[in-house]
Amino acid sequence: MKETVVSGIRSTGYLHLGNYFGAIHNYVKMQEDYNCYFFVADYHSLTTHPDPKDLKANVFRVAAENIASGLNPDKVALYAQSDIPEIPELYLMLNMLAYKGELEKVPTFKDKVRLSPDNVNAGLLTYPVLMTADILIHNASKVPVGKDQEQHLEMARNFAQRFNSRYGEVFTEPHVFRFDENTVKIMSLDGNGKMSKSENINATIFLSDEDEVIRKKIMKAKTDSGPTEPNMEMPDYIKNLFQLMQLVSEQDVHQTFLDNYNNCNVRYGDFKKQLAEDMSNFVKPIREHAAELQKDEDALRKILKEGAEKARESASKTIAAARKAIGINYY
Ligand code: TRP
Repeated sequence: MKETVVSGIRSTGYLHLGNYFGAIHNYVKMQEDYNCYFFVADYHSLTTHPDPKDLKANVFRVAAENIASGLNPDKVALYAQSDIPEIPELYLMLNMLAYKGELEKVPTFKDKVRLSPDNVNAGLLTYPVLMTADILIHNASKVPVGKDQEQHLEMARNFAQRFNSRYGEVFTEPHVFRFDENTVKIMSLDGNGKMSKSENINATIFLSDEDEVIRKKIMKAKTDSGPTEPNMEMPDYIKNLFQLMQLVSEQDVHQTFLDNYNNCNVRYGDFKKQLAEDMSNFVKPIREHAAELQKDEDALRKILKEGAEKARESASKTIAAARKAIGINYY
């Protein structure tokens, strides 16, 4: 039997190259061999009170961008979290086993408290519990998430164990799924940290960027006056540009520029021009496909509804078992 994978996709912001090469690219490979549930985490986004007018467009856009990036709704269940009422039901049950003290200690919670002290709501505190419900509702064993989410996964295992030892074996303990050890990290084009949808958007390439925007961003990417001796170690921001070229350009093109670098005759202007062109060609079909999908709202609605049906089939079994184990078994 195929193992079950669950992952949540944030519904805020536009997808960028970091999301693509760091996550979606792996989801696309996983969909062949695993029983995959991928959802747009719209309930999670409510912690920051987004404008109700924006919610639907955000959810549809994120779904469209993921499909355009290669996620196949015939192979995976792609759904909106809020279409699965079993998730908040399980969240309620798990909240009774989650202690205030342990939730307050979570680093992501402490960060949020520091960044927005005026909005420390209970949903923020119990974010890891909702995330646990997202995962346990399908009894997933594997969860492809980045380093920043490892602590949440540890909590999910604790909550699963706690439930099981109190009420009997209902849940599988989920583990972080490192699908590909070689998964690349895409740095921001200004050399400051990871590519991000919120930090410096001029140094982040979005899957929705037009060719000209991509060109401008790449031409402005941080470089230096070039290597001063053969085979010099590259600074991180140069390494990042070469890595991007390796991902989107022909192999011999990448090799030629690499040789130039190692021989100290690299011209960054030419290098970036080539990278910009190849990057535009890479992003363009994804951008156009995503735009086309977003225009066809009926089709997207159908995809999300079918995804929700698949997800509820699995969720309803789990919630029935959880209710029974707890003793909610009256009729
Ligand atoms: N917390 C995750 C993030 O910020 C998103 C997420 C929500 C998630 N629920 C999940 C990821 C369940 C994996 C499994 O990226």
